[in-house]
Amino acid sequence: MTKTLDTRVTRYEAPRKVTGGTRYAADFMPSGMLHGALATSAIAVGELTAIDTSAAENEPGVIAVYTHESLPDYKQPKGFYQGGPGTASFWPMTGSTIRYGGQPIAYVVAENAAAARRGAALVKPEYAPGEADIEMDPYESFLVEAEGMAVTKGDVEAGIAAAAAVVDETWTTPFQHHNPMEMFSATAEWNGERLTVWTPTQSVRTTRGGIAQAYGLPETAIEVVAPFVGGAFGSKAGLPPYTMLTIAAAKALGAPVRLIVTRAQMFTVAAFRPESVQKIRLGADADGRFTAFEHIEIAQTSQFDPVVNPGTHMTRAMYASPNIRTEQRLARSDTNTPGFMRAPNEMQTFFALESAVDELARKLDMDPVEMRRLNDAQRHPVEDVPFSSRSLMACYDAAAASFGWAGRDTAIGAMSDGDWLVGYGCATATYPTAVAPSEARVRMQSSGSALVELAAHDVGTGAYTIMGQIAAQRLGLPLAGVEVAMGNSNLPVAPLSGGSVTSASAGSAVHLACLNAAAEVARSVAAMDDNPLSGLDPAAITLQDGVLKGPDGQSMPLLEALKATPRGEVSAIGAYAHPDLTTQALRTTYKGGFGVAGPVTPKHAMFAFGAEFAEVRVHRWTKEIRVPRVHGAFAAGNILNRKTAHSQLMGGMIWGIGSALHEHTVVDRPRARFLNANIAEYLVPVNADVREIQVEMLDETDDYVNPLGVKGIGELGIVGTAAAIANAIHHATGKRLRALPITIADMV
Ligand code: MOS
Repeated sequence: MTKTLDTRVTRYEAPRKVTGGTRYAADFMPSGMLHGALATSAIAVGELTAIDTSAAENEPGVIAVYTHESLPDYKQPKGFYQGGPGTASFWPMTGSTIRYGGQPIAYVVAENAAAARRGAALVKPEYAPGEADIEMDPYESFLVEAEGMAVTKGDVEAGIAAAAAVVDETWTTPFQHHNPMEMFSATAEWNGERLTVWTPTQSVRTTRGGIAQAYGLPETAIEVVAPFVGGAFGSKAGLPPYTMLTIAAAKALGAPVRLIVTRAQMFTVAAFRPESVQKIRLGADADGRFTAFEHIEIAQTSQFDPVVNPGTHMTRAMYASPNIRTEQRLARSDTNTPGFMRAPNEMQTFFALESAVDELARKLDMDPVEMRRLNDAQRHPVEDVPFSSRSLMACYDAAAASFGWAGRDTAIGAMSDGDWLVGYGCATATYPTAVAPSEARVRMQSSGSALVELAAHDVGTGAYTIMGQIAAQRLGLPLAGVEVAMGNSNLPVAPLSGGSVTSASAGSAVHLACLNAAAEVARSVAAMDDNPLSGLDPAAITLQDGVLKGPDGQSMPLLEALKATPRGEVSAIGAYAHPDLTTQALRTTYKGGFGVAGPVTPKHAMFAFGAEFAEVRVHRWTKEIRVPRVHGAFAAGNILNRKTAHSQLMGGMIWGIGSALHEHTVVDRPRARFLNANIAEYLVPVNADVREIQVEMLDETDDYVNPLGVKGIGELGIVGTAAAIANAIHHATGKRLRALPITIADMV
């Protein structure tokens, strides 16, 4: 494994980004472009009995108003949970049925965006409303029908009976909605039977594939473009209705159309984090060794899709226990289909698990860190395969030291600072390491520049810089000499940017492409005279940090070697697939889907780990809750860029503060709508809520996960923060709060 070098590199597009020089999808405005706007349903369940568009059509500037009666047909792509690209299996405006509040019911096209929105407001629907319920009923839950959703090892009842102490509690987490800075948008332009779509997406290829199916076009006729994505976090992971509606409108009008959805519509036209109920029974003997662990997760889903983000797969991988039982259940309610939101069910499930561990440690009067050490599993507790690497306790030791954990007074309410009660809490963070197949193309010129091309995405994480760094190091070029092209469906196959897979997967493809390019140059120069590698067996020549090396100390910089070749340039493809990847998963990826190896393969369990410590202050009289410090230590294999990784982990922990104390989509029960669909009332942490965030990244070598030794970090930071804060609140106040978010109202 080549360790990556200069790893505090500033993202190379940073100057362009801060000066407005990077173009996001909605910045591409084809000439003659018209503007779309959505009218959405005011009811959650029922039928549209009539829809009067005359006022909208008469509005100055409005060009067309489409409803389910007038929108040209396309073949509805399958939803993600039926193996297709769609964010949901139900496509609005394909009939008169209303299945969720805020469902698109009309699409207005106008000369400018203001006219389109005025037109949308003038659409007059008539409804026959049905009974709607937005909150799931956990008593009406059902087991997910798929392998591994209900797992039993040993005898949980016997383990509970034998325990010296048991925690048997229920935790709940609320609906949460995506609010990335970049709004959802789509711009479509048809040129005969060719189509270009600019849309912020986590998968240009999935989007392309779905559109191709819908219109019966070859994929080569479609180009999906998203060079930069202004935050995704799972909200831009599939092919959404608003994109399909925009394409249909552009086709019908024979003119390019751009839609930018409103902030309020972002709460209904895309995926979100479903509410959940987490039931855990955890028992331990008098020494603190776990005797039984049972975790039943009940997550909300829509009436039409069984959304499965199996959080219990992760909790059952955490700690050794002879008896384990997990169940992944769903309960339906009348919403759009939920989906991915940063650490889709790890955030929820680890809030529960890590609160339970803390409660059990209290019952046994143990240090919760030592309880985790005692139960630290070196093999997967259910699958019984070794972890490819596992540095959980090293993370605890590092974060505990930097935080000053040992110096606390463990008694409840014992620590204070003036009128502030002070509490400390900690929790485990983890995220599964999944690796997707990927390709990349590298072209290197003797002028000293290189172009790296792949259909991966930079969703704001620094992926351009990471891919550039990998190539620059392999090829022996300065980073400034490497240009990276991503976010276009015409580029070589790369995975959906989700599940924290990009650096590990697409990065490995870039690595292999560089090796292949070097091998080709080595073959050329070995066959030529008068150079240090002349006459060598090309197979014996290796590439090390930009230098071709022979078996007996011969060496020649790759760039020098390239200059010596007649062509003076080289182009090579790298194709990466993890050895544990199944043929099925490989096929899925090449068909535009999301096929991965991991986190658990027949040989290994692959997870990144972390430990998070929070200090909480609760005001004795006003009951305000403050989080002055969060320290996290993380081990996620090889950290390619310590600067962008630091930002990722810090951002995750800040979002974790939000999950603990702020984020909560409130429901209007009688109308079955989301109530606070704006960023004034949907709270996220602001600067005043975030004080010291300390991130430590431990060295960890893992040669199994991929050639780069990289585990994903995009979602790791958020997991554990909420439990660390809840545990600290308990330490400060004695209150065990098991429902997120925890607010001032819970303190009285
Ligand atoms: Mo992430 S929630 O897999 O985009």
